[in-house]
This record gives sequence, C-alpha cells and structure tokens, in this order.
Amino acid sequence: MSISCGNVNSDACQQVLVRTRYMKMTPPVEEVRKRSPSDYIFGKVLGEGSFSTVYLAKDVHTNREYAIKVLEKAHITREKKTEYVMREKEVLRLLGGSCQYFVHLYWTFQDAERLYFVLTYAKNGELLKQIDKHECFNIECTRYYTAELVLALEYLHGKEIVHRDLKPENVLFDENWHILITDFGSAKIVKEETERCDNESDTNFRKRRNSFVGTAQFVSPEMLTDTSSSYASDLWALGCIVYQMVSGLMPFRGGSEYLIFQKILNLEYEYPEGFDKIAKDLVEKLLVIVPNKRLGAIDAKPYVSIREHELFNGLNWVNLGPPPIISDSISEHIIPDHLEPGLDEEKVSRLQLDLLPPAPTPSRKKSQPGRKITDLSPDEIKERLDEQKTNLYHTFVGGNLILKQGLVDKKKGLFARRRMFLLTLGPHLYYVDPVTMVLKGEIPWSGDLRAEAKNFKIFFVYTPNRKYYLEDPEGYALEWCKAIEDVKTHYFPEKS
Ligand code: ADE
Repeated sequence: MSISCGNVNSDACQQVLVRTRYMKMTPPVEEVRKRSPSDYIFGKVLGEGSFSTVYLAKDVHTNREYAIKVLEKAHITREKKTEYVMREKEVLRLLGGSCQYFVHLYWTFQDAERLYFVLTYAKNGELLKQIDKHECFNIECTRYYTAELVLALEYLHGKEIVHRDLKPENVLFDENWHILITDFGSAKIVKEETERCDNESDTNFRKRRNSFVGTAQFVSPEMLTDTSSSYASDLWALGCIVYQMVSGLMPFRGGSEYLIFQKILNLEYEYPEGFDKIAKDLVEKLLVIVPNKRLGAIDAKPYVSIREHELFNGLNWVNLGPPPIISDSISEHIIPDHLEPGLDEEKVSRLQLDLLPPAPTPSRKKSQPGRKITDLSPDEIKERLDEQKTNLYHTFVGGNLILKQGLVDKKKGLFARRRMFLLTLGPHLYYVDPVTMVLKGEIPWSGDLRAEAKNFKIFFVYTPNRKYYLEDPEGYALEWCKAIEDVKTHYFPEKS
C-alpha cells in the first residue's frame, strides 16, 4: 500500500488564505524534506482505535509535541480500510489547518509497515473525559461548547464534509480549552460521493450506502436505514452530545448494539428530572427522525436557526469570549529524554505495556486477630475461586477472587443506575448492569483511591480523576468503605 506523503501544508501554502474568525495561523513550513519516524521520539499512547494508535511524540529538531496517528498497513489492507485512510487524509488536507476547531495534519509519511499522520496534540484530552470527570456540565459550559461545535459544523459542512462519527471521544480540547474535532476516518466528502454515484449503477450505490459507519450510540436513524447520511446526520450527533453534556449520559443506551439501534429508530429516550428546559428544547429539535426536519437542516445559511435558539440568547457569535474554566489540570505527559527516536516493534510493545495497570503488590502475610477481607491463604483463595465458578458474576472479574459484591446505585450526572459492584483481588472494583448482564466499567485502582461513607447508605469513592457517588440501598455503605480500605491497605500499605 502506498499513500502519497509529504508536507501537507505545501498545497495550502500556495493558496492565499482568507483569514476569517475561524482561521488560525498555519504553522511555518520548517523544512520541505520528507519526514520519517526517526524525526520523532514516541511517548505515551494517547488513544487507540480499531485501525490505529495515537502516540504523543516530540519532534527531535524543534522539541514541539504532536499526536502521531500510526496505522499498520497490513491490518488496513486485510480489513479493506484503505479507502477510509485515504479519505481521512484528504479531509484533513481540505481542512488545511484553516479552522481553529479541528486538529491539523502537519505531515504524513510511511515506512515499510506503517503509515504516520502527524497531528495537533490536544493537550487537554477528550470532551468525554471532562463530562465523566464532572458528571455533567452546567448550562453555561454546555452553551459555550455547543456554540463551538455549531461553528465547527458550519465550517465543516461549508467545505462539503460530513464527519459521521461525531461523539465526545472525538472532540478534544487544546491547551486553552477550545475544542479540536478529530478522527475523520468515517467522514464523507459530499461532492466526491455525488460524482461517484452519478457514474455508478444504482445497485452499487445502494450497496455502498448501506455500510455502517460511526458509533452505535451516536448514529443517526438514516444511517441505520438505507437512506444516505448527510449534513443532518452530524446535527443528530450534536443533539446527542448536548444531551450528554447536560445529563452525563448518552440519550440512547442499551445492552447491545441491536437494542441501541431499536431505541434510535423509535426515538426512544427520556429526559431525567432536572434536565435544563432550554437545552431540552434544543435537543428535541435536533433529535428528529426525519433529517430535513432537524433544526438547521434546511437553513439557507447554516446554521442560523440553531444560532437563534434560546440557549444562545445574548451570545456573541463573532467572538464567543474565553472558554469556561472546566478543569485546572492540563495533562502533562512528559516524553522521557532518554528515549531513542523512531518506532519499531519493541517500542510499540513497550508503549502498549505502559497502558496496562501496574502489577499487584505481593500479598502480605495473614494477620490475626481482626481479620481483614484480604487476609486469605493461597489455599483459601484457591478454594474460594473454585466455589466462585457458580457465581453468575464470575465471568466479569477476569479470574480474580470476588471479596465483596452487592447492588449499589451509581449516580452519574442526573441519573442513578443500579449496578452489581464486585470488589476483587487484583485489585479491581468492577460494576455490571444486573439486568443486561453487561460489564459497565471499573473504578480505577491506585494508592490514591479512597472511600468515605456519608451515612449508612451513601458513600463516595475518590480517585485522582473522579468522585463516584454511590448508594447502597441495603444500608451497607460502612461495610463497603471498610472492605475497600482493607484492599487498599493490602495492595498499597504505604498509602494507608
Ligand atoms: N487522542 C487521539 N488523538 C489525540 C490528539 N490529537 N491529541 C491528544 N489526544 C489524542
């Protein structure tokens, strides 16, 4: 496989750039020579997709940081995704770094095994992480980021590009907390598609239109049925994102893709109590089954009718002003200086390994009296693991011994969800949806994890990045906190 590589700015530099409020400075072209992996020191993995891994990387010549998207050629060819990779490059080239709300593609290059896209490093990570961290956004914050998304979509759609996979993981924050939309692997260039379709037989066209792109929870109804996706599909995704910013959860949830799709097609979702009324009105006008009836979809000048929505009353669209302060922590991922430039098999494996949680500390000797939940001999562990095989939840804990389990209401944003909590050796604190029997997640363990009971029912688990609001309907909050503290003492004695 071969993609043409080189300095992505070179075309753009020959054009006279009309600078509007969307525009940011195109970085100077430092060198025209071809780039290679040895021009960069590769650090932490920032993200992983089905077909790519994004690394934080430092340019050895300038010390500038970039996010480098690396794609394995063999994998792309095997999975027949070449077209998507080309499309992503073409879309990023079309955007050309001319709008501040999109990641910029600086360079592309390749070696025998991989393709490399050198992109803007979004220092403040994903919108999803911020929504999760804060449980949900207040209305000022929601208004501001919805406005930035609207401006970004106006620009993108003006360039005749549909993103088709807009979701909070694909909305990143730069160092000043402005949005940077990324991941154009599912994007569509409308003009190209129309031209191609004009030249193709009707059957071929239908075949192509049926291929599913995007993410289950954010996919629009028309992308699930056989009509083609278009700009209005991104407006649907915008409605989903606004809903998630306000409530902390996605509007269409289910234990399987099938159930989620059913809900989308039936427009089956609800607003939790306390959902802001004005934001609700906007979401209702965007989450409309018929694409052309979505707010903004038939605007002669996009997206006047969205801009005029009550949510944005008093907003200056020419200058949105400074972003709200949502977090003070800029994630400082330092690339160690001792690393060699370039990327080879060994480095790929090492950087992947860094993603794994640290190995558990060897267990402490049993202490008597006042036995702790973790005071178990190897024989006892083995015996209890054998018994555990009949436990319905055994399959969710990766072979670890369950020390305590029970139904707990996990509050997130405006919602509370009942989950089966499983505290295990490892240590792990998993939670499973007891209705759909789907593993919903895990509270990440570290020596800084802390549990605190508010009363017999309510307790909090603090991690460095999040506070979990939990309620044991049976009133065993104190027992949960004690068990969590025992596990902490066992694995992180120096922190207890
Ligand atoms: N994760 C995926 N892409 C990223 C980027 N460009 N910057 C920071 N984190 C990312």
